[in-house]
Amino acid sequence: MREFDNDSGHMIFGGMRAEAIADEFGTPVYVTDENILRESYRNVYDTFSKYIDTKIQYACKANSSLAILKILEQEGSCIDAVSVGEVLTCMKVGFSASRISYTGNNVSDAELKAVSDLGVGITIDSLSELERLAKIRTNIPVSIRITPGIGSGHCGKVVTGSEGSKFGIPLDDVIYAYGRALELGLEPIGIHSHIGSGGKDIEPLIGSVSVLAETANDIKDAHGIDLKIINMGGGIYVPYRPNEEEMDIEELASSVADIILNETSVRSLAVEPGRYVVCDSTILLTRCVDVKRTGTKNYIGVDAGFNTLIRPAFYDSYHYAAIANKFNKACEGKYDIVGPICETGDHLARDRALPAPEEGDLVAIYSCGAYGYAMSNTYNSRPRCREVLVNNGRTELIRDNENFEDLWRYQKIPNRLL
Ligand code: LLP
Repeated sequence: MREFDNDSGHMIFGGMRAEAIADEFGTPVYVTDENILRESYRNVYDTFSKYIDTKIQYACKANSSLAILKILEQEGSCIDAVSVGEVLTCMKVGFSASRISYTGNNVSDAELKAVSDLGVGITIDSLSELERLAKIRTNIPVSIRITPGIGSGHCGKVVTGSEGSKFGIPLDDVIYAYGRALELGLEPIGIHSHIGSGGKDIEPLIGSVSVLAETANDIKDAHGIDLKIINMGGGIYVPYRPNEEEMDIEELASSVADIILNETSVRSLAVEPGRYVVCDSTILLTRCVDVKRTGTKNYIGVDAGFNTLIRPAFYDSYHYAAIANKFNKACEGKYDIVGPICETGDHLARDRALPAPEEGDLVAIYSCGAYGYAMSNTYNSRPRCREVLVNNGRTELIRDNENFEDLWRYQKIPNRLL
């Protein structure tokens, strides 16, 4: 987890006091440090490309805010997209079709037609999708997603690679799938798997690349297909806790490259990191509005709830929290940080040692760049909040807050009810 500087008891983020950002833009607000974002992208790209020709396909589901995408477009990233909306959003900021790869799951014919019309790369997820795509378009390069039988993730909800998963083509059907792709007039160029998100160990990822490599060789033996690229998916871990060890991506990159270069005739690797690229770059600033002490628990009530950041409520995920204006104060007790949503599950953090809170304090929730704003919602009729970009002490609004009109914009009351 990234630590931030302290200036006389005030948290510094992006070269300025977090409090100054909250004062200027209000709370809750997601704030992204452009330098951290660029650094994380470069780190993953440089590490893998040292060992093998690498395409970083940023999994934009993690954070598809236009300004964030534009920065990654400038960095030279490619994209992993999962919907027509993601493809169009990336194209809007300048990604060409050749830099976008679409990997859907339970994809409708309409969606297949739309993405093939847009000309992006397609990774096929099922035998049904293979047959249906070939009815829409042939003579296009495709990859196939397999279920490697190895899963990993921070909780069961995000493990995708285990046997029996809803993702990918089961290993037993993979050889048939590649033969069938040829028969149908498609051009198989790649093989893909994504085993899950937020797992801490590199071994399952390396194991999945071994399965991909072996399968690529079997496909070559069976059908004479020389695949060009192995795609190992995403799932590079980012530590959320202080003093937690980072994933050894150097070791991961060198092991994966060894397997591919020594055991197959494939020469290129695609990696689809989402979390790794954006997680650390962004904090959520939220104001303490209420302090409550009960016989058994103490609460810091803030103006962000699981409508703003759903990960703690949905996955029981840990996000580090600090009081930005009491950055050097000693901890006084343990607190749960809770929001305004009318459910007991509405918590951002549990049992955290923190300095004595007061109404008006500013709470910073760390590591919110991945699956933070992207999963926010308007539950309890609370419009979504702002996003701000900060770069060496300079702030820019990159998304305005929604307003109440936005909540009603697409709704209609039938005339007969009026
Ligand atoms: N590639 C594919 C095909 C994926 O499905 C995903 C994530 C990724 C890449 C990127 O995985 P990452 O590098 O970010 O671990 N909402 C959850 C995470 C869901 C991930 C879904 N797929 C969370 O907040 O933890």
